[in-house]
Amino acid sequence: MRTNSTTMHPQRTILLLTCLALFSACRQKNDTGAIMQNQTAQQTLKKNGHDVFSLSLMRFPALLLLLSMLFSSCHPSQEETHKPTPYNLPQPVFFPTANNIPADNPMTEEGVALGEKLFFNGVTPNRHGIPTGCASCHHPEYSFEGGPEATLEHLGTEHTMLPLINLVWNTSGLGWKGEVETLEDMVYAAVTSPVEINTDTSEVVRYLQQDEAYPELFLKAFGSSEITFVGVEKAIAQYVRSLVFANSKFDRYLRGEEQLSQDELNGYMLFITEEGADCFHCHGGGSNALFTTNLLYNNGLDAEYHGDFKAPTLRNVALTAPYMHDGRFHSLDEVIDFYSDSVQYSEFISPLMHHVMQGGIRLTPQEKQQLKAFLNTLTENELP
Ligand code: HEC
Ligand code: HEC
Repeated sequence: MRTNSTTMHPQRTILLLTCLALFSACRQKNDTGAIMQNQTAQQTLKKNGHDVFSLSLMRFPALLLLLSMLFSSCHPSQEETHKPTPYNLPQPVFFPTANNIPADNPMTEEGVALGEKLFFNGVTPNRHGIPTGCASCHHPEYSFEGGPEATLEHLGTEHTMLPLINLVWNTSGLGWKGEVETLEDMVYAAVTSPVEINTDTSEVVRYLQQDEAYPELFLKAFGSSEITFVGVEKAIAQYVRSLVFANSKFDRYLRGEEQLSQDELNGYMLFITEEGADCFHCHGGGSNALFTTNLLYNNGLDAEYHGDFKAPTLRNVALTAPYMHDGRFHSLDEVIDFYSDSVQYSEFISPLMHHVMQGGIRLTPQEKQQLKAFLNTLTENELP
């Protein structure tokens, strides 16, 4: 069969018509972009005293535009120039897959880097002029808590601190009462709280404008060099989401890379059995390697009603004293003694505290040591 090369193929006609339609549809939008670009070109030229060239220069982008119309569909120019590198979030084995990354704040290398700088360099000066921010309280070496000195009296906050680890997989609310919905909101809460950073959002923006490095970092992260508080929230939230901890001795045991000692294994068996120490319902275990459900319970600290509180993750628990929302316990021995011997009954206690009628899980001194040995395997070898 002969094909007549001079006749127009129907597909080509459709393509051409589509291109024309696309051109007229995109014209309005992209002309504005082109005009804006040309204005900047004109301004630059005027500055150099060459404004005579600007007219002919204007034609060239228009031609380019027309050509690009034929080969591609329309894209706003900003998106084309701002191409941050997607952040590669690890997905450790036995971790949940659901995470809390919002559609309007995807993680990028540039966003995380900006967030890290904001987290550590502070967002406002305190009354002595010293930069204050997240890292004034949240220290990496204590799993991003405040360390043994961070008692309620010392902090002046309503509750003690919580670790900032693996929070990207927390899909049920932040803080001891689970009241803050997103990490972005938590940045706002920490900045404005009278007992935390205690400033306002416009002060933060004004303070950051004094650092010459920020416009470039905001540009790389969000495509605009303008420093905004929304950008601050997004970047710090991205950094906190990047704090993934999944390389404790226990993780290496789960991955078959390292063996636990007999005491540590016995402690693990106690942890995950109801007739043992019965910890796993609220604090996870091998099948929930976050070591928290991120839910709130009343674990029987007081006989009088004291409400429900978040069951904190037990990862890095060796580093997060003082323990409980009010920091009442200063060592893991005190915590284990409580669960073993002095759980208080009240009508509000969680039904998961199965052993409350015996005052607790009633461990022998040896079992207490084993449980503690296991809890110590949950500590990361290297902190950032
Ligand atoms: C004055 C010390 C202090 C400063 C400064 C501070 N925090 Fe906190 N942070 C706390 C305390 C205390 C809590 C526990 C609050 C509660 O639930 O009552 C907490 C809780 C959190 C939580 C909840 C963790 C969880 O597991 O639910 C996040 C997230 C957090 N802070 C992030 C930040 C960020 C980001 C900043 C900086 C913008 C910051 N914090 C600044 C003391 C501080
Ligand atoms: C019914 C759920 C539940 C069970 C079962 C449970 N816990 Fe808890 N755990 C909690 C809650 C809730 C908190 C915080 C309570 C508060 O501060 O008011 C907590 C706090 C802790 C803390 C303090 C963490 C910190 O950073 O302050 C440790 C350690 C702990 N639990 C270990 C254990 C161990 C070990 C077991 C088993 C013997 C156990 N838990 C059983 C719910 C539970």
